Amino acid sequence: MKRILVVHGPNLNLLGRREPHIYGTRSLDDLNQAVRDKATALGVEVSVFQSNHEGVLIDFLQKEGPGSAGIVINPGALSHYSLALFDCLQALSLPVVEVHLSNIHAREEFRSRSVTARAARGVITGLGFAGYELALEFLAAQE
Ligand code: DQA
Repeated sequence: MKRILVVHGPNLNLLGRREPHIYGTRSLDDLNQAVRDKATALGVEVSVFQSNHEGVLIDFLQKEGPGSAGIVINPGALSHYSLALFDCLQALSLPVVEVHLSNIHAREEFRSRSVTARAARGVITGLGFAGYELALEFLAAQE
């Protein structure tokens, strides 16, 4: 069965408590449940991971990327400055979909630039949990 990595960056563990007017009131567990339900419906396996640490995320991706069919990643604020994460995603040569819960283009100026997005096939921003489900759907359909 196709395996897809679903990776959450810094502060996404606070989902539900963090700025609920922007990120909503549902928790990371709720999001991961929605991701797992979608994966089951699509007939793919998901490996879900969250870390607040850039290097820990990179270690996970380096270890688990090979052998996976694609990556759904919300790098959180790392999107805006982590060239190390960009390099890591680029090095894996896997289809990557970058997801943001909020619309990064409708917020502070610094959020509208994503350096990691250059390593992605596409970006889904502002659609909340649905963004992850759509990203999974796209990756599940890739050859
Ligand atoms: C985010 C947007 C980022 O700007 C922010 O730093 C996050 C979450 C989102 O999902 O909307 O941590 O990636």
